Amino acid sequence: MKRTVKTLQEMKQNGEKISQITCYDHTTATIFERAGIDMILVGDSLGMTMQGYADTLPVTVDEMIIYGRSVCRACHDTFVTVDMPFMSYQISAAQALENAGRIMKETGAASVKLEGGKGVCPQIRAITDAGIPVVAHIGMTPQSVNAMGGFKVQGKGEENARRVFEDALAVQEAGAFAVTLECVPPRLAKLITESLDIITIGIGAGIDCDGQVLVWQDMMGLLDRVPKFAKRFGEVGAAMDTAVRDYMGAVRAGSFPAPEHTFAKSDCSEEFYNELRGTIK
Ligand code: KIV
Repeated sequence: MKRTVKTLQEMKQNGEKISQITCYDHTTATIFERAGIDMILVGDSLGMTMQGYADTLPVTVDEMIIYGRSVCRACHDTFVTVDMPFMSYQISAAQALENAGRIMKETGAASVKLEGGKGVCPQIRAITDAGIPVVAHIGMTPQSVNAMGGFKVQGKGEENARRVFEDALAVQEAGAFAVTLECVPPRLAKLITESLDIITIGIGAGIDCDGQVLVWQDMMGLLDRVPKFAKRFGEVGAAMDTAVRDYMGAVRAGSFPAPEHTFAKSDCSEEFYNELRGTIK
């Protein structure tokens, strides 16, 4: 079933949980689409998972478009959101609208996501007024890692909890159809989820959000270190390690390729190859 803003909203109303996963390439997106995931996020976390940076700040709009369009080509039913990277929307509502428009036109995504609460409401309003669905992202916002002094839980203590709560109300008011709650206390996430009409998607925010998102490399067991909130649902890294070692062993032992992996049928005659051999000076 094709997921849209409307069907996702209905899931919230019916109390059905929404599953979202990050993805950055066509092959992996094909697998996730086939499995029936509700939402894919082409997150700017690709700066870390795909490009090896220490944080998401170096990622550009052009890069998001390249990864985003390769994912979108695999997704027919899955609702794809593409992240707006650092400094692609912070300057002004006009800048945000221009880059959101580029991302939508050049990737085929169904929505964009941007980080921030009250401070980015003019941007959210401008983008949604142009007919582009927006996912907001509050709590721990990785693009502000330097201001936050690290990847730290947000919304602890009354003053901070009030700020996150007010951000949630503000992004809904500005027109976002969903909000990602990253690393906030579970009781605060529950209160926000109950208070908003729009969808909440949690990551490190407890069980009571309308949906959950995980970075796919974290949940598939591809990385040695995973955050506390990310459960390993598979051991794909270990399976890849075994497969690549088996391949190396077979190549070294001369057992790969076997006859069944070889194109022999339309080969030329022995005489022809002798003739070619004879041309060597
Ligand atoms: O970029 C990303 O992957 C994200 C998720 C962690 C929510 O924003």
